Amino acid sequence: MAIVSATEMVKKAFEGHYAIPAFNTNNLEWTQCILKAAQETQTPVLIQTSEGAAKYMGGYKMVVDMVNDLIDSMGITVPVALHLDHGTFEGAKKCIEVGYSSVMFDGSHYSIEENIEKSKEIIALAHSKGVSVECEVGGIGGTEDGVTSNGELADPAECKAVADLGVDFLAAGIGNIHGKYPENWAGLNFERLEEIKEAIGGKPMVLHGGSGIPFEQTSKAVSLGVSKININTELQLVFADATRKYFEAGKDLEGKGYDPRKVLKPGCEAIVAKAKELCEAFGAAGKA
Ligand code: 13P
Repeated sequence: MAIVSATEMVKKAFEGHYAIPAFNTNNLEWTQCILKAAQETQTPVLIQTSEGAAKYMGGYKMVVDMVNDLIDSMGITVPVALHLDHGTFEGAKKCIEVGYSSVMFDGSHYSIEENIEKSKEIIALAHSKGVSVECEVGGIGGTEDGVTSNGELADPAECKAVADLGVDFLAAGIGNIHGKYPENWAGLNFERLEEIKEAIGGKPMVLHGGSGIPFEQTSKAVSLGVSKININTELQLVFADATRKYFEAGKDLEGKGYDPRKVLKPGCEAIVAKAKELCEAFGAAGKA
């Protein structure tokens, strides 16, 4: 099975009150691990790349070929969408052209008028090729240069304006941030989430910064219309932790422990275990 648009899987999740996990990939092993976890738990899944990660892996076309080839060689039968995460206007257009089945156009840093104009153009282009589209209103905070900004709260009227353009799923800030959450994080703002839900009526929402949010909060967000949850940092943390332990235990110095296939194994096993846990926690396991 080749990659599919995310429209249907996210719509089904919205109607069935669960969320599709959207895992960011960084390389071949990461992609294999995500596919393995999705297949073993029978979870419909989004594999997503930032523009930087795609560049690191050799470009968008290479990512399209890698994901399609792995689906084939690994015998993957669950629905898999390949999604561009936080795409620029040009990046989204390029991904639509080379075969991504889903794109995010992140115009949240433009004025709302410009965000609307650009989102409209990407939506028309994507839909003409059967590609699903996510747009964003209100930035998602995060850690830059060691300083963690608070998550922004999107304006419900602006969310409605972008949702009405025909976007397939909408990312809106509700106090969530990318990266590790600080000790004093206030949590998701459910009041704002409800206001946005009311404003955009019947449109699935996306929760960015899904790593490290307590499951009671993700479950409540799902009950209020969140149908796609983005995870990047959490897989990076478990990979780094398992790999550090491998070196700390001196395993690379035993026999052929320096072979990259051995070095990467504990980290990969940790990614698969964490991804499976999240598929279950978001209620998406068994929904393929
Ligand atoms: P985390 O790295 O916090 O999981 O966020 C991922 C994300 O939202 C990608 O867009």
